[in-house]
Amino acid sequence: MSQPMSDPTTIKAAVQEHYGNAIKAAAAEPCCGPAASSCCATSTELALHGAEALATLPEGVVTASFGCGNPLALASLRPGEVVLDLGSGGGLEVLLAAQRVGPGGFVYGLDMTDAMLEVARRNAEKAGATNVAFLKGDIEAIPLPDQSVDVIISNCVINLVPDKGQVLVDAFRVLKPGGRLAVSDIVFDGELSNLPVSEAAVRAALSWAACFAGALSTTEYHTLLEAAGFEQISLEVTQRYTSADLRAQGSEMLVGLPDEVVQQLEGRVTSCAISARRPA
Ligand SMILES: C[S@@+](CC[C@H](N)C(=O)[O-])C[C@H]1O[C@@H](n2cnc3c(N)ncnc32)[C@H](O)[C@@H]1O
Repeated sequence: MSQPMSDPTTIKAAVQEHYGNAIKAAAAEPCCGPAASSCCATSTELALHGAEALATLPEGVVTASFGCGNPLALASLRPGEVVLDLGSGGGLEVLLAAQRVGPGGFVYGLDMTDAMLEVARRNAEKAGATNVAFLKGDIEAIPLPDQSVDVIISNCVINLVPDKGQVLVDAFRVLKPGGRLAVSDIVFDGELSNLPVSEAAVRAALSWAACFAGALSTTEYHTLLEAAGFEQISLEVTQRYTSADLRAQGSEMLVGLPDEVVQQLEGRVTSCAISARRPA
């Protein structure tokens, strides 16, 4: 059985390569109509964001989404707010958020992968969005001043980062007092320590880049949010994945794990809607 990835530099390089290739492939697909049409948006984008929201984007915007939920549904954005999207990918949620905060608001996308940033900036240009900026950087060290953001959103990114505690501490730093965090992420429901194989063996049989091997448990997420200073913390499971769902993400998934362990993992890998607030 292979070892789980643990070196931060190796993890980040693997994640960059994976998502760099994924967005290049998505951008190379010819789009034959408006962003909400079935030949531009896949069933994932339609399920996450809805045809109505996608219909607001002009033709030619690459709607590729690599998310696992809809943080915008959780964020309740208001006109005039400043928003930061951690791991903004191709920029779809930044563009949708920009419409909700309006010309008096502003939305930053932050991502470390050049190919993602290129597509996101092109998308913003096509959409004519003037209240957005895409920054290159690592979400463990957010390149924004203290207390400068009203709302942080993020879709399926924090699980990919080696030091999740540092991400949450820095997210807290840039939020204004009373600021909100609205995140979708992959999370283990329950601990991995009570299985008949080691936690390391379970993680080694999942893919880091596909968002599973690096996921926290619900308890760990809650503890890290609290340690960073957040209050009003809520984690709600929005989707449970079966072993068939996991295997559909790659041939290496679950390989080498005894059937008994695979059965015990059924439905415990989840998508979660996570919200929290910086005290006012
Ligand atoms: C699963 S994709 C999600 C993208 C986007 N949120 C969406 O829903 O389509 C993960 C994104 O996070 C970015 N990412 C991963 N780790 C990062 C880090 N440490 N700092 C900045 N961006 C990161 C990747 O480059 C990629 O664009």
